[in-house]
Amino acid sequence: MRKAGAFILGTGRALPSRVLTNQDLERMVDTSDEWITQRTGIKERRIVGEGESNSRLATTAARRALSRAGVSPEDLDLIIVATLTPDYLMPSVAVLVQQALGARRAGAFDLSATCSGFLYALSIADKFVREDPKRKILVIGSEVLSHKTNWEDRTTCVLFGDGAGAAVVTGSPDGERGVLSTHLHADGSLWHLLTLKGCGSLYPPCDPRIPREDYFIRMQGREVFKQAVRAMEAVAMEALETAGVAPGELDLLIPHQANIRIIEYLRERLELPPEKVFVNIHRYGNTSAASIPIALDEALEEGRLKEGDLVLMVSFGGGFTWASVLMRW
Ligand code: COA
Repeated sequence: MRKAGAFILGTGRALPSRVLTNQDLERMVDTSDEWITQRTGIKERRIVGEGESNSRLATTAARRALSRAGVSPEDLDLIIVATLTPDYLMPSVAVLVQQALGARRAGAFDLSATCSGFLYALSIADKFVREDPKRKILVIGSEVLSHKTNWEDRTTCVLFGDGAGAAVVTGSPDGERGVLSTHLHADGSLWHLLTLKGCGSLYPPCDPRIPREDYFIRMQGREVFKQAVRAMEAVAMEALETAGVAPGELDLLIPHQANIRIIEYLRERLELPPEKVFVNIHRYGNTSAASIPIALDEALEEGRLKEGDLVLMVSFGGGFTWASVLMRW
């Protein structure tokens, strides 16, 4: 097996305190707790309130990760924030986090790869630390999807939530523990199935010719579902086959949390028992780029990952993009 690269020294997460339940949604659109639970597995999600923003969530998650890692902000070489819902189009969330942390030495940029953003960002960090294992890189997935959600569209508004997760990455201590492989994919031919057009340069704000719905997330759910199950299985198998590992040798699978039925499908295809698959979608819904780092942080806190464990992270999102990262913990 290839030598390990990026090693995670510490993780953190931040969730807004406001909880929006399925019962709350029943009062907002024509839906039911039963429908949402059966079709998605979601029971509640977190929504930002006054004074909360993407960069604040990202900074809080980062502080927790740095503290657990025992790394000071001045020691960071690079900050990468995966997001599709930045505070502003300019500057990036990453520089706001850099400033808030006082990470003066760090370069900083945002990365746009939708729900695969965290795994894309982790794979970039992996390349940087393979070049120089002493580097310290902060990798964050952070989203405020609630501000890009059409609260009149029941087919999307029940799905998403806000939150952030962070990981402090450095080189493998021994060549055994850390990232073993990364696989990134995209298919732009299907971009139109999942979009957030408004406020892009083709869709300027307040243009009366642009339909209101285009300022929010739009999705052809059934089509996205079909692509997601296919792509996530393929990229999971790609990771396992490249590493010469059988699915049964995995200790934990952390899939992107978009729909419990997608997660279940993947679990069955890999023939994994439920205890080897991390699920928190019932609490947070789909938090896009934040979903995997939040799940990783919770998995650690719950003692679901211990030294030497083999963990596979798998994502799928708009674009389409999909990715996997295989790690020895
Ligand atoms: N409450 C009640 N009914 C709803 C509803 C809601 N919130 N949303 C849709 N419906 C209705 C539809 O109008 C449709 O009614 P009809 O049969 O009378 O036309 C019916 O439920 C079935 O809709 P459909 O879209 O086929 O449901 P589904 O089983 O595909 O589930 C999703 C919808 C969105 C949950 C599912 O397609 C999905 O999870 N897709 C992938 C999402 C994803 O992964 N997205 C992001 C990638 S990161």
